[in-house]
Amino acid sequence: MCGIVGYLGKEDAREIILNGLRKLEYRGYDSAGISLYKKTDNEFMIYKDKGRVAHLESITDFSYDTGLGIGHTRWATHGIPNQNNSHPHQSNTKRFIIVHNGVIENYKELKNDILHQTNFYSDTDTEVIANLIEEFSHTLTVEESIRKTLTLLEGSYALLVIDRLNPEIMYAAKNKSPLLLGIGQGGTIIASDVMAFVGLANDYVTLDDKSFIEVTKDGFIIKDIIGKETPYDIKTIDIDNFNVEKGEYAHFMLKEINEQPSVIRNIISKYFDGDKITLNGNAKKMINDSDRLYIIAAGTSMNAGFIGKEMFEKMAGIPTEVHIASEFAYNMPLLSDNPLFIFISQSGETADLRAVLVNIKRKGYRSLTITNVKTSTLAREADGYVEIFAGPEIAVASTKAYTAQIAILSILAMHVSDNTHLNLRKELSKVAISMENIIDKKEYIKDIVKEYLTKRNCFYIGRGIDYYASLESALKLKEISYIQTEGFAAGELKHGTIALIEEGTPVIAIISQKEINKNTRSNLYEVQSRGAKTIVISTKAVKDSSDLIVLDDVFELFSPLLTIIPTQFIAYYAALERGYDIDKPRNLAKSVTVE
Ligand code: AGP
Ligand code: GLU
Repeated sequence: MCGIVGYLGKEDAREIILNGLRKLEYRGYDSAGISLYKKTDNEFMIYKDKGRVAHLESITDFSYDTGLGIGHTRWATHGIPNQNNSHPHQSNTKRFIIVHNGVIENYKELKNDILHQTNFYSDTDTEVIANLIEEFSHTLTVEESIRKTLTLLEGSYALLVIDRLNPEIMYAAKNKSPLLLGIGQGGTIIASDVMAFVGLANDYVTLDDKSFIEVTKDGFIIKDIIGKETPYDIKTIDIDNFNVEKGEYAHFMLKEINEQPSVIRNIISKYFDGDKITLNGNAKKMINDSDRLYIIAAGTSMNAGFIGKEMFEKMAGIPTEVHIASEFAYNMPLLSDNPLFIFISQSGETADLRAVLVNIKRKGYRSLTITNVKTSTLAREADGYVEIFAGPEIAVASTKAYTAQIAILSILAMHVSDNTHLNLRKELSKVAISMENIIDKKEYIKDIVKEYLTKRNCFYIGRGIDYYASLESALKLKEISYIQTEGFAAGELKHGTIALIEEGTPVIAIISQKEINKNTRSNLYEVQSRGAKTIVISTKAVKDSSDLIVLDDVFELFSPLLTIIPTQFIAYYAALERGYDIDKPRNLAKSVTVE
């Protein structure tokens, strides 16, 4: 789940790698490390420690020239974040230096079966890789040793390998974890995300699972695990460097919340010609050919999926189920005759989703990915993809991707529905304006947070679509402010969880639908009577004079696009108030590439 960057070429490898790691740091950030070739001494230096890339920079020696190196930011899976467990790791004789992203599931077996004589200096699964390569190198060439090692590894890896005896070459390999190769003017860069190439390489190659790569100053060769050269396509990057900077904002999250109206307008410009939907590709046909949709996702994207279910069912009459990817992968329900799988993923790299995709592809089912990253694994491997055009989302807490996913789901649902009355473009434009109205009032929300969010726990409640918005609101608040928050179906609270309500417990109700207005308000009285401090987020059509946050009325299925904005601010200000690292909350990573 980390970031990997390696470079071999004429330019300053240290600058390129550190710069790349900084751009990828949002993917994982508990430790960072780098190994650089020091030409003058014909030696590889290693700098690594627990902490951020900024700390790594402070311990890296900048005094020598270097044109080869490998770097890593870690999201620990095996062993606590400390200097010892940080990458790069070395083989016992220190000949091989590696960085690894992913999880080696059979590392214990490999230790016991093959490496029982080897000393291990870290708690990571990674160290077995370096030592297997070394073990095999006694009788095989380095290339053969690496490929033989790869055949034994079970699990996921994006891997960069350096041989201290040959500073003319960098090796790489990939399985399940993302890895791409950038073709720069002065050299070759390999990284887990195109983001690391911005400003350096315009052309890049996506690497397939089980590929093995050799990079030299003359270029690169891509082979499969058996050693047979494989063909590849060269693509061009279209990420705007400006978009990945914070600009005037204190945090990426604040920037991304503020960008939502322009993301909605961007989506309109991409998918409408006048009032007509212009969605190319096979999405419409795939949906029409199916009898049931299975939305597979995790976290925020799953919460967007629930709104998508409402849209497909209510706008287009297509039965739709939403499933947690990690559950679906190993506990598949009975499927309909013609299912279509819709994978929703901001990053397009979430391993839990990929496990399902691989599984359903094997069974011959069709799939569609909705993603922000068209170069991602899930976009490439599904039968079709729809891009959400939210622009790079850097903050770990997802905001603009959620609203963009919902907008795209509405376009898909509309595209396959018979409804000729609804002017979706107009409704989406209204949403963009109403989003701006809320954003203008953010200082007011900051004051509410100060007054109300004073406890260790909090509840969001709602019914129907407001319940789904509550789930996402709760996820936002807990992941960055660490306030224990639950999103709850308002009517369900009294069946047990109401026991947790104490004097001063904040309960935030989302009410945007007329038919549930009275019911949710009754549930609010129930918690008020038990001491809760309540906040209501409502819309003009259902408002009560005591409601603290009242939003514009929009097309009813679009209400989550508005109700979510104040809750994103609530999360942001609650975290700010507590002095937490908003863009990089503890224990999390942006791209969850391990199961
Ligand atoms: C969102 O705030 C989260 N950090 C997380 O739940 C995320 O939505 C989830 O990991 C899924 O990621 P994806 O959309 O990139 O697949
Ligand atoms: N499994 C490895 C470790 O725990 C790599 C983790 C990562 O992808 O950052 O060190």
